[in-house]
Amino acid sequence: MDAATVQRFLDGMKYEAERTAPPDGFPRLPDIPAGRYVDPAFLALERQHLWRRSWLYACHLDELPTPGSFLLLRKTGSPILVVRGKDDVVRAFYNTCRHRGGPVVRSDKGCVQGFVCGYHGWSYSLDGKLLNLRDKRDFVGLEATERSLNQIRCERFYNWIFINEDPQAEPLLEHFAPFAEYFRQFQPEEWRLVAQESREVQCNIKVLLDAFLEVYHLKSIHQNTVDRFLDHRGTTIALYRRGHSLMVTPNRRPDWVDPGTVGMRRIETATAISARNNASFNFFPNLVVPVDPSGCPFLLFWPLSDTTMRIECHWFAPDWGGGPPADLWKVRIANFDRILDEDLQFAGAIQESVMSRGFTGIPLNYQERRIYHWHTELDRRIGAERIPETLRVPPVLDAHVEN
Ligand code: FES
Ligand SMILES: [Fe+2]
Repeated sequence: MDAATVQRFLDGMKYEAERTAPPDGFPRLPDIPAGRYVDPAFLALERQHLWRRSWLYACHLDELPTPGSFLLLRKTGSPILVVRGKDDVVRAFYNTCRHRGGPVVRSDKGCVQGFVCGYHGWSYSLDGKLLNLRDKRDFVGLEATERSLNQIRCERFYNWIFINEDPQAEPLLEHFAPFAEYFRQFQPEEWRLVAQESREVQCNIKVLLDAFLEVYHLKSIHQNTVDRFLDHRGTTIALYRRGHSLMVTPNRRPDWVDPGTVGMRRIETATAISARNNASFNFFPNLVVPVDPSGCPFLLFWPLSDTTMRIECHWFAPDWGGGPPADLWKVRIANFDRILDEDLQFAGAIQESVMSRGFTGIPLNYQERRIYHWHTELDRRIGAERIPETLRVPPVLDAHVEN
């Protein structure tokens, strides 16, 4: 992040704290139609055009420590295998044997020399090539070279690995620009996986994700936690193309340091934006990173059904030799979980409302505009022409989006 951008955010926080109304020319945001949270036809479009065609977080390189290490992911319906090859390249394949669809791995993680389908024994190399098949003499005209495991896109943002089922997707680093540049200040190659946890939540994925795109709720549900150290009235927001956004919220006291981070290594090259304030990134669609120079969670939001979801927290931190002291992390993660509990407390009740006739749409305010921006990108991905007019979100924020 260059000095001019840092200054722009610092100035932005001052401006936001002092303003008495949204900036001149900020549009009235049309209500987000209620049906976008419940209409089965809309949610089917979302599955097809968003989840099957987005760059989605798979894992950190630490989870694939040696050649042959693999993980089996089932985040969006398709069974996908991520594996580190003999050449140390990480690849992703459907866990779908090219004979009759048997699984070529059956555990969620492990380390193998190659893959053998449990159904009739076809075997594949770590880079997906079909090596052997039983009773080859009985297949007429079958070319092994045409029956490699079907591969999907798999690319790296530093040591974080992302996958995409869309063969036409733009390269990952192009897609996540300018975040790749912003993250350089944190020396991300140094970061290691510390801990992982996840919870099932009884609501549509957007009900909870929306809560992580704004700080309007701090004074109510985080009154005794986050609101004590963050001042939501100074929050400044940048909206980027492709649905991404960044929200920076000032600490109430400029010299405030999260007590949970004391004793942890901090990356000294981090700019004042995240070293002295709270910076939270949304990598569209479903990754939220409230980054801190001493480490942070990657928050992932996954749909389970139209009315249920899973939130995962993958904690990362700069390596300090012997590894992060476990007791410090235990306290820090427990503190975070308390805040997460506050965020989750209304999820089920809101879902109940959303499914009732009492919920007719969402009037968003200026400081909730990241939610509107997210929905606008969803329409762009689906293609507005495929969406019934009553469920569309007009792109009224385009003039407020930067590259
Ligand atoms: S389905 Fe895999 S070998 Fe038959
Ligand atoms: Fe919250």
